[in-house]
Amino acid sequence: MNLLLFGAPGSGKGTQAERLRDRLSLQHVSTGDLLRDAVARGTELGKKVEGIMAAGELVSDEIVLELIREAVENVRADDTKKGWILDGYPRTMVQAKELNGLLTDIGEAIDCVVVLEVDRDAVISRLSSRRSCPECKAVYNVLNKPPAVEGKCDKCGGGLVHRKDDQPETIANRLDVFQDQTAPILDFYEDKVALHRIDGNMPVDDVTAAIERQVQ
Ligand code: AP5
Repeated sequence: MNLLLFGAPGSGKGTQAERLRDRLSLQHVSTGDLLRDAVARGTELGKKVEGIMAAGELVSDEIVLELIREAVENVRADDTKKGWILDGYPRTMVQAKELNGLLTDIGEAIDCVVVLEVDRDAVISRLSSRRSCPECKAVYNVLNKPPAVEGKCDKCGGGLVHRKDDQPETIANRLDVFQDQTAPILDFYEDKVALHRIDGNMPVDDVTAAIERQVQ
């Protein structure tokens, strides 16, 4: 199964992908994580995108298309997985169309789109209090999902960070960018694949259960 997780920044895509990946034996592909890795490693690509990401703007379609191409090929080479969860891609109409072409070329398709719908105020609060592990990508929240030891990842012991783009003015910009450039691409999927809208304001377990009911 190939699943596309769609939603505003902070709607819970990464949190849900981490859970669904293990339960459904899927590979989690997050363009945000791939880009942050490049920034952390100081690659040429990382240097190019660092400022753009810190400002909450979108990286160019060409750059992310290249990343997604590689990621999809890696997933296909891993026969322990039954498909993938795409998180954070596509984010523009160009990316949606490119993805469609890429998948058609390799005889694959998106089976369903899960849309996480969350109120703007809730998203701002969640992102302001999020902490992330750059090593294993685990996601925490100082208000509702703190780590056992402050500042340390429960899973790998890595140091937790408050992402640069989780500052108030950047969060507001990211939400505006989502409304302007990303939300409209749902129209592209509306009549092509099964599209499930989930109330992402619910507690994490309830959101996971609601997604599982729709996709299994
Ligand atoms: P990316 O990393 O994709 O960020 P995003 O889409 O803004 O999403 P987030 O990671 O902020 O949030 P999330 O929905 O995963 O929520 P999470 O589960 O962490 O992209 C970052 C940047 O990279 C972009 O701004 C752009 O610059 C660039 N980029 C990436 N992809 C690109 C592309 N395709 N094209 C161009 N540029 C691209 O949850 C958030 C918090 O809420 C956590 O603390 C969590 O514990 C908590 N939480 C989760 N669910 C619940 C719940 N149900 N109740 C209460 N709290 C909850």
